[in-house]
Amino acid sequence: MWSQIKTTTAFFIEGRKKFTKTGYLKARKNPTLQSRWNAVNNADLKGRVYVVTGASSGLGKEICWYLADKGAERVYMVCRSEEKGMKAKEELVKRILNPGEADSGGDQVVKKRSNWKRKKSKNDKDKDTSGSSSKLEQDDPTTSKADDKTPAEEEEIQQQPRKRSDPNSQLIIIPNTDLSRKSNVDNLISILNQKEPNGIDCLLCNAGNLHNQVTYTPEGLEQTMASHLIFGSYYLSKSLYPLIEKKAGTIVFMSSGGMYNTKFPGWEAIHLYKENKSNKSSYDGQLQYAYAKRAQVLLAERWTEENKKNTVFL
Ligand SMILES: NC(=O)c1ccc[n+]([C@@H]2O[C@H](COP(=O)([O-])OP(=O)(O)OC[C@H]3O[C@@H](n4cnc5c(N)ncnc54)[C@H](OP(=O)(O)O)[C@@H]3O)[C@@H](O)[C@H]2O)c1
Repeated sequence: MWSQIKTTTAFFIEGRKKFTKTGYLKARKNPTLQSRWNAVNNADLKGRVYVVTGASSGLGKEICWYLADKGAERVYMVCRSEEKGMKAKEELVKRILNPGEADSGGDQVVKKRSNWKRKKSKNDKDKDTSGSSSKLEQDDPTTSKADDKTPAEEEEIQQQPRKRSDPNSQLIIIPNTDLSRKSNVDNLISILNQKEPNGIDCLLCNAGNLHNQVTYTPEGLEQTMASHLIFGSYYLSKSLYPLIEKKAGTIVFMSSGGMYNTKFPGWEAIHLYKENKSNKSSYDGQLQYAYAKRAQVLLAERWTEENKKNTVFL
């Protein structure tokens, strides 16, 4: 019990610093990460094809907005509900076409960053030219002389009207896809093979919820493991790998800091809560979620090891 309290406290303290909005804002202000933010803000994704699961809300929806806004050729929004998917797409199209109205939060952050840069360039010029860049910056592949734009140059880039693709044709909904069901995932795989024979640049396995009560799929598997891991990450990425390989693309598993709540109990955890078994009452949704998220990390490490040519990121 004490070790669980210790783990939970450590997770809470670390989590507040690194995973919450506080962590995001801290990272946003971190001078050593500026070149990465620049790369994120100035990315040009023209010609790229993305597949995002769990795109009807939350992180998945925001990522679809970012990808389409940065010019991706096609972004497949994989959703369970067609209605929710359409609603999400409508909202994203509006946001992309009217950036000033809906994107004010992001703009404020960018403005603050520009102000910070302006101040920094006036006050800390000596420090900047001392050549003492941090380890992180040295390791960062996006850091280059070309990325070191002056505040004025950066502002100019941000204010240049970009020639936009039509977000209506960039964002494509694939509905009726419950990632916890093999039959639905098989259907998704066949649609993507048909539509994108030349390959996919990135697959983002993001879909999944945390269930407080044990629930089962029609195929008899526990929901959390089935959607986050078995079909939503393992089976989907393995099946789409040939398409991703064609573009030397990337697979992303959306894991979670929640995994730090517990150790991985071993692969048998996948079958821990079988339908019609008496251990239903011992189900703990938080733990099951943590196991699935740990397993995604282990799987990504394994994929990375096995497919050295390409990269699997988390
Ligand atoms: N938010 C966080 O703080 C956080 C932190 C770390 C990691 N994550 C991870 O990030 C991912 C997205 O989380 P979020 O916060 O954005 O959650 P969210 O707003 O609840 O979005 C989850 C998305 O996944 C979809 N989904 C859930 N189960 C599905 C299934 N079986 N089949 C197909 N789609 C399914 C949902 O579809 P419906 O709209 O149909 O429900 C929704 O679009 C999750 O994997 C989560 O574990 C989140």
